[in-house]
Amino acid sequence: MIGHRGSPRAAPENTLASFRRAARDGATWVEFDVSLTSDGRAVIFHDDDLDRTSDGTGPLAMMPFDAVRDLDAGSWFGPAFAGEPVPTLEEALDLFGELGLSFNMEIKPDRGREVETAEVALAIARESWPASAPLPLISSFSRISVATAKEVQPGWPRDLLFDRVTDDWKEAGAKLEVISFGANHKHLDAAQIAAMQDAGFGVMAYTVNDVERAKDLKSWGVDAIFTDIPADMLRAFQ
Ligand code: G3P
Ligand code: MG
Repeated sequence: MIGHRGSPRAAPENTLASFRRAARDGATWVEFDVSLTSDGRAVIFHDDDLDRTSDGTGPLAMMPFDAVRDLDAGSWFGPAFAGEPVPTLEEALDLFGELGLSFNMEIKPDRGREVETAEVALAIARESWPASAPLPLISSFSRISVATAKEVQPGWPRDLLFDRVTDDWKEAGAKLEVISFGANHKHLDAAQIAAMQDAGFGVMAYTVNDVERAKDLKSWGVDAIFTDIPADMLRAFQ
């Protein structure tokens, strides 16, 4: 069970508040998205555009870090979170260390910055993540970013993301030497999961917010689910 962007029904997604809440909810793993500002700083943010989850407008990739840092990424969610900043990757990693959270870092590159985003994010993670801590899982929908992760940090486990799994999953998984695939649960079924596991890969399903669906996926042997409601899911599976 992985808290998807933290605990995003209880706190604004991809903020430190959301990761703290996930830990309080009992999650031991969180997923987050890392993207670059116009001047190349790694920050935790999901969308291309700032509008939905901050008081900014337009593309994150066009805004320098100093301006991103002035944004409020909490008020859109609720007044209790007013002033919550867009976290830097360094801040998020420090917090995970403090809370003892394991993490899945999803590289979310702007078009054309697939290599750079992976390089910057992995350099920071390599620098700050203690060797004694459990290894993080590095994922991306971008095969270029996953290939870059393989090149710059070969010892860290990798995951290739799909919406609907494509026919070439086996070749892609072998080439990128991933340990698992992440896929939209809406397109997953027992046969697809079994085929990927029989080929030696783990299977993770996103984003599962219905307990009955989570139980079906579990009965099909899925290795992990990403959920927006970690507290409810943990309760349901206790
Ligand atoms: O890694 C699972 C999930 O986070 C992938 O989709 O769009 O929520 O980043 P998205
Ligand atoms: Mg993600």
